[in-house]
Amino acid sequence: MTVDSIEVAKAYAYGAWGDLPIFCGDLINFGYWKELLDKSSDELITKQKKIESSYALYKYVLDKVKPLGNEVLLEVGCGRGAGAMYACQNYSFSKMFCLDMTTDQIDCAKKKFEKTPFPEKVQFINENITNLSSFIENIDIAFSVEAFQHIEDTEKALKRIKQTLKPNGKIAIATYFSKNIVEDSVIESIFPLVLKKQEAIKSITVIRDELEKAGFLNIEIEAIGDYVFYGYEKWVRQQNADPCSYVYFMAYERDILDYYVITATI
Ligand SMILES: C[S@@+](CC[C@H](N)C(=O)[O-])C[C@H]1O[C@@H](n2cnc3c(N)ncnc32)[C@H](O)[C@@H]1O
Repeated sequence: MTVDSIEVAKAYAYGAWGDLPIFCGDLINFGYWKELLDKSSDELITKQKKIESSYALYKYVLDKVKPLGNEVLLEVGCGRGAGAMYACQNYSFSKMFCLDMTTDQIDCAKKKFEKTPFPEKVQFINENITNLSSFIENIDIAFSVEAFQHIEDTEKALKRIKQTLKPNGKIAIATYFSKNIVEDSVIESIFPLVLKKQEAIKSITVIRDELEKAGFLNIEIEAIGDYVFYGYEKWVRQQNADPCSYVYFMAYERDILDYYVITATI
């Protein structure tokens, strides 16, 4: 086994995705590259730029639901807390619940916040959103960055998120979904992580229906794949990393997959 494949195996086994060389800065997402990458340039992507792209994705999502001061936030799938830290440093809100089902990620996130000016502001919860038993309510803004592709029962998760929101609460979800309804067997044949039950990649149509069923209104869906897949693919190639990452770019090129930012209210 090469070092790379040992790290990949660990990531699959323990959810230690943040240890993979393709992710850095404790940020585990493909990134938003609109202002960061000139497609016509051969310039190499630096590690710093990859980190910036992941923060830019957080910025893009948070700007859609802009907290203005007194709001209570819930992040679903907070990973190692780097996005939560970015939110604390760049937006005003009163409190934030950060939820992740992977213990390693939550432990890492908690450690990150121990030595910051905001330890009281953020509360970490190690739970699966689908079966969330912690009593969380009166949330103004729920958001999620690149976690929904992992959730098997997205309908149940959306209903559970809705229960945490207060009247006029908002939701923002960013991740990849298939553009059309495709048979499970086809999705499994394209995406190795779906076959391994690490991802569930639903279609955007199904997610819209599930949002409606959960009682969300004013659903807006924006496809941002143009500013996600190319940069991430270039970075992954540069790292000479596990080729399983290439399938996302290929699926985007073949019009099967896109990266979406979804917002809705209740
Ligand atoms: C790709 S990482 C993204 C982490 C973080 N948002 C970021 O951008 O750095 C997805 C995270 O979602 C978490 N996750 C997946 N399914 C979940 C679920 N059902 N409930 C809570 N967390 C979940 C995983 O443990 C993982 O930390």
